[in-house]
Amino acid sequence: MIYLDSGATSFPKPLPVRRAVARALAVCANPGRGGYAAAREADRTVYACREAAGKLFSCPTERVVLTNSCTQGLNIAIRSLVSPGDRVVISGFEHNAVTRTLYGLGAEMVIGGRKLWDWDDTLEKFEDALRKRPKAAVFTHVSNVFGYILPVEAMAALCRERNIPFILDAAQSAGSLTVDLGKLGAHFIAMPGHKGLLGPQGTGLLLCGGEPKPLLFGGTGSASLLQEMPEELPDRLEPGTLNVPGFAGLAAGIRCVAERGPETIFRNEHRETLRCARGLETLGFEVFTGEHQAATLSFRGKGDCQELADWFAARGVALRAGLHCAPLAHESAGTVDTGTVRASFGWEASQAQSQNFLQIAGRFP
Ligand code: ALA
Repeated sequence: MIYLDSGATSFPKPLPVRRAVARALAVCANPGRGGYAAAREADRTVYACREAAGKLFSCPTERVVLTNSCTQGLNIAIRSLVSPGDRVVISGFEHNAVTRTLYGLGAEMVIGGRKLWDWDDTLEKFEDALRKRPKAAVFTHVSNVFGYILPVEAMAALCRERNIPFILDAAQSAGSLTVDLGKLGAHFIAMPGHKGLLGPQGTGLLLCGGEPKPLLFGGTGSASLLQEMPEELPDRLEPGTLNVPGFAGLAAGIRCVAERGPETIFRNEHRETLRCARGLETLGFEVFTGEHQAATLSFRGKGDCQELADWFAARGVALRAGLHCAPLAHESAGTVDTGTVRASFGWEASQAQSQNFLQIAGRFP
């Protein structure tokens, strides 16, 4: 298979990740719930994941909250800052994890910047939107549909100048672009564990610069007499038994990323993205590509996008078609009526992978 759906999840998982999951299943009991060896092993395993993430993203270890997805992290973050009726500035490339959460809260969304690849336009429109005195801002680092890298350092600076708390959705950037909680000054940064960080599905991280409110309530193994959730992080946000095998795998995934280096991973993915963009254009596909593009490429051919993706799937190429849970991004790009087909590259992107993909694409009738 030519796997070009890393925007959905990394696949297959690296061997150290699979080994770490299997090991945890064999040796870890419940973390934070006992002083016996298997419980202590679970404590160490979970702590190692928190510590590795804290180091990679410049976040104090106890402020790295383990979640089951980026979506869960975004829900916690948004519900910590936004109340019904509040105005919130978002980019024109947000995922449903952001827009549905805001919609469900009854927040007013002001879109700041909808033009692909244009940092000047994004910043100008974002700044205009911030003048409307929102309660918070939420923006993605990289569009999951088009791979557009937003100018998040400058967007963060605009928010900081105005004392507007903001949330960064690092779903498509963690592991390949610099994500630094301290430097950005974000209230929250949410990310999945299973995409660029190479961990198992069902894992995610929420980095807490600000003070979060709990989304779930229950036992934490600490302060059991209290009927409120404990004040301390990460306990405040982590009731219930943690996904220990998942976070064992995620710690191993983060180690793989740290060893290779996010810059090397990005360079590799980016080179293959551009190679495929050029190749698909030459073959007559409509390709969405431009400056500030990460490892994701949308394209369209003759006819229906799902049928095109199915045609590729029948020839062993894994792509994702449709609206990619991001109708807002498709509206911004003018592709909401058709959707697109998306190729997204992962840490093992190679010239051979791109050439094989393009060879198959060249056979499309
Ligand atoms: N949000 C993920 C994607 O873009 C699942 O495919």
